[in-house]
Amino acid sequence: MTGSSDIRLMKILLNNGSGRMPALGFGTLIPDAAETITATRNALEAGFRHFDCAERYRNEHEVGEALQAGMAAGGIARADIFVTTKLWNTNHRPERVEPAFEASLKRLGLEYLDLYLIHTPFAFQPGDEQDPRDQNGSVIYDNEVTLLDTWRAMENLVDRGKCRAIGLSDITLDILLSIYEPARIKPAVVQVESHPYLPETELLEFCKEKGIVFLAFAPLGHGMKPGLLEDPVISAIAARVGKTPAQVLLAWAVQRGTALLTTPRTAARARENFDISALPEDAFNEINRIQTRQRLNPVVKTGVGGFLT
Ligand SMILES: NC(=O)c1ccc[n+]([C@@H]2O[C@H](COP(=O)([O-])OP(=O)(O)OC[C@H]3O[C@@H](n4cnc5c(N)ncnc54)[C@H](OP(=O)(O)O)[C@@H]3O)[C@@H](O)[C@H]2O)c1
Repeated sequence: MTGSSDIRLMKILLNNGSGRMPALGFGTLIPDAAETITATRNALEAGFRHFDCAERYRNEHEVGEALQAGMAAGGIARADIFVTTKLWNTNHRPERVEPAFEASLKRLGLEYLDLYLIHTPFAFQPGDEQDPRDQNGSVIYDNEVTLLDTWRAMENLVDRGKCRAIGLSDITLDILLSIYEPARIKPAVVQVESHPYLPETELLEFCKEKGIVFLAFAPLGHGMKPGLLEDPVISAIAARVGKTPAQVLLAWAVQRGTALLTTPRTAARARENFDISALPEDAFNEINRIQTRQRLNPVVKTGVGGFLT
């Protein structure tokens, strides 16, 4: 980690020497195209320098447009931002990986990506239909390809220099191990749901031991209510330290050594979610002692993300 005591500027070293990931990340899972553009611009203006995208979100073009405009307006260089996108489940066959990557890069209007992730470990029937279903409405999986086959194609992308780091998303520790051990290029990042109700401690410990960045999505519990934003422990700490519950949850995530993704949609929330400061140790430990356990997103079990992927 770097960034001294200002946790807003914390950056985490990637294990392949390709650079550092800003711990505070902005997620672009926003269904509306116009809202994607304004929210991305707002995030950049508020100070976010890490942007998480995916071909599945169908808005890479809008995110790219917002980034180009925002960077030009703010005098921000490409090297000052960190951009990730993800390979969708229908593109797991090795011959589909590079075309999918190139298509994402083109939509984003970028020359290279800082990070490319396999979005989920589940391969779906290859093709243009992102959500292939049979007559009963069940997902059509693809049994002809293994996750390691896909990983080998991801490694080839790094060799060609257009993608600085690669990683996995929506995995368990077992799946991570199945790739980590045979990998020629080790995963640099894993992106998973994590918050005080789902601390994923074992996975986090493994990641720390191997220098893999643990990137938490749903740090605010997807904003669901009732939920983390109304948790009595979080609310009491927020009142005590003069911050909002969202700021407390984001600070906790950074202080435990993870990067995070949050999706504020308005300018005011972008400023709020960026304006975090370190929690006192007793508050940090109190959050660690929360006993509630809840997974909000089923994507890790099926490759399909309930209301969100
Ligand atoms: N790998 C995967 O499968 C996967 C799955 C899900 C998400 N992600 C990534 O993670 C990103 C983050 O998504 P998330 O849902 O996990 O983000 P989140 O920040 O935990 O939750 C977003 C929700 O919180 C609300 N919110 C944001 N800031 C707030 C604040 N300051 N106070 C109160 N409520 C606030 C938002 O409400 P409003 O919309 O009303 O502002 C929204 O409903 C996504 O954009 C995506 O990049 C990845």
